[in-house]
Amino acid sequence: MTKRKILKTLYEKKDEYVPVELLVNKTGKSQKEIENEFDTLEDEGYIINHSKLGYRLIKTPNLLLPYEVKKDLKTDFIGHDIHYFKEVDSTNDVARYLAEEGAEEGTVVVAEIQNRGKGRRGKTWISPPGGVWMSIILRPDIAPSKAPQLTLVTGVAVAETLKEELKLDVGIKWPNDILIGNKKVCGILTEVNASINNVNYVIVGIGIDMNVEIPLFPPNLQKDATSLKNELDTEINGAMLVQKFLLKFEDLYNQFKDGKFPEILNEWRLLSKTIGNNVEVRTRGKTVRGEAVGINKDGILILELEDGSLRKMISGECLHINDT
Ligand code: BTN
Repeated sequence: MTKRKILKTLYEKKDEYVPVELLVNKTGKSQKEIENEFDTLEDEGYIINHSKLGYRLIKTPNLLLPYEVKKDLKTDFIGHDIHYFKEVDSTNDVARYLAEEGAEEGTVVVAEIQNRGKGRRGKTWISPPGGVWMSIILRPDIAPSKAPQLTLVTGVAVAETLKEELKLDVGIKWPNDILIGNKKVCGILTEVNASINNVNYVIVGIGIDMNVEIPLFPPNLQKDATSLKNELDTEINGAMLVQKFLLKFEDLYNQFKDGKFPEILNEWRLLSKTIGNNVEVRTRGKTVRGEAVGINKDGILILELEDGSLRKMISGECLHINDT
């Protein structure tokens, strides 16, 4: 709280020295306590000048610190509670723990580094510094069978944010990979906790390779992965990107809860790089090849096989054959 008030004052008086007496006044804390808060801020990466005139903010770290994300956040409920970690095993696991403890819908968990990031189908998600590794707790009043649709809703939210804010030509590979060209820049992992008739909570995990340096990925991933920084040749402001994404996500999530999944699916279709492609879908048991001819109203991929028959694919890993 004190830290938030100090930062607010420093931002208001940008480019000026703020006398310590003013900070004492605004926070009700002692000079010594204020000095301690400045030590923490410097540890977090803020660069602050200190002279006899007071304190002056020189540089804000490009980190997903809750204060920085919340500062210009325009949402009604998503991201109002943010749990921040410099390093964590998996934000999805922390979110699940918080959800079990009763955390509210819209609670966000974010980390700079994940040591055991989880991908789909039991894979590891490599999560070095520079990424957006984030999970959102949702408590929608829907049938459990509808919960996987939230993966597609999230994919549309990420893709539209990257298009609108960064003017990137992104597409979606079914069910949930965000691509730039043929390279993956974001993955989504949705985990559902439900009883037979009710969803207790859903954790939507989003991993965006924002400012990640590609050589930090293992060599076998490097040719198929990219980052926003790599594409744009410039460092992206993480707090800004997360604010814009959360706003877009909240809007689409509200639409989803209002029964507008068909409309969101139409946006998904427009963004799809899978439909019209020859694909190979690998499921646990087998691999199916065919042309992806559409996605049905439930988000299920329809393949036309070589013999002309149609096959519905509920889940699996999809490879675009033309691209490989
Ligand atoms: C995929 O395999 O494409 C899904 C990757 C999902 C990664 C994100 S990063 C934040 C959240 N925490 C995790 O452990 N995984 C998801």
